[in-house]
Amino acid sequence: MENTHDFRLPVVNLIGMGAIKNLYTKLLPYKLSKALIVTDKNIIRLGHVEIVEEILKDLFISYDIFDGILHPDCTISFVEDALTYFKKRLNILKKDYHFIISVGGGTNHDCAKGIAIVATNGGDIEDYEGYEKMTKPSLPVISINTTSGSGSEVTNITIMRDDSRGVKMIIADPKMMPIISVNDLRFMETMPPKITANSGIDVLTHSIEGFVAIEASPITDTLAINALKLVFGYLRRAYKNGNDMEAREKMMFAGVMGGMVLNNAGLGYVHSMSHQIGALYEEMHGACNAALLPHVLEFNSLSIPEERILKISETMGMKATDKQDAVNKIKHGIQNLCKDIGLPIHLSSIGVDENDLELLSKNAEKDICSITNPRRGTFVDIMNIFKAAM
Ligand SMILES: [Fe+2]
Repeated sequence: MENTHDFRLPVVNLIGMGAIKNLYTKLLPYKLSKALIVTDKNIIRLGHVEIVEEILKDLFISYDIFDGILHPDCTISFVEDALTYFKKRLNILKKDYHFIISVGGGTNHDCAKGIAIVATNGGDIEDYEGYEKMTKPSLPVISINTTSGSGSEVTNITIMRDDSRGVKMIIADPKMMPIISVNDLRFMETMPPKITANSGIDVLTHSIEGFVAIEASPITDTLAINALKLVFGYLRRAYKNGNDMEAREKMMFAGVMGGMVLNNAGLGYVHSMSHQIGALYEEMHGACNAALLPHVLEFNSLSIPEERILKISETMGMKATDKQDAVNKIKHGIQNLCKDIGLPIHLSSIGVDENDLELLSKNAEKDICSITNPRRGTFVDIMNIFKAAM
């Protein structure tokens, strides 16, 4: 019986308080001399980019900064703006960027990957929608992470809003995997509670969806269960006290593990559906996941072996007698956590309109994350999950 798994992650992953200082020695062998930093004005204001600039100066690497990421949701227009900037610099200065450094959260990494794809493959970013559409490797990307949640710094996936179609466009291709990821706790101290809550619930969703996804393997299972344990042990603390560095550190590790899970096991309907809400309402990704996760789990439970559901509830600290008991306990556990960290548990609280459910369901059905959902659903099934989550 053929049953193979690819497991991909960046070649180098620098993790921990002060990890950024090791970027110097890791970059040295690449002999790169021109960089484009992709970031936003807030990250510059916080002083994070300055730290990266110092390292580049020490390595005699020249650089430009693109800071045109205008809101926390990667959008095709940001990638297009950056490419226009990119080409203008090439024409005027005859510069040829050797690599891209993204500094920020998932939005900035996703935009950087989009720029890196088109820089070497040409055409428009939309040409690469779907799985493995690139012909050449992207420009090398180094992802310096300042949040703990999306996991984008360790994935070969980029997700961006396509406003012309009102959907999230997903590109997945190993040829754009970042070569180095950095998760330094010093960049995460400044994360506000709302981002801590949203990104933390995103990690929780990556863990549970990845654990039951059809591409899950013993490697991703181990990562998923450990990430889940850390979220339930430390997210409340990180939310309540941003200076609790032990909790921040645990959430940072959970975020990295969650990213590795989603990249290698895949996700499911929670992400298929929350992507569409995010595209239409500009609501934060984690809040959408929080409202959908319990209802998707209820739907999927028919196709998930009992021992796997029991493993999830046990990891969340709840003993269950059977599958249905575990599903109920997991649902309540997630909803209680959401209440404690100020996230809505109903889509109506996010502002989702009943009249949009048909369009949302139609788009969710086509989302690439649906492929790895453990139970195949119809348009009506997806619509019913949306209704239950209202
Ligand atoms: Fe996510």
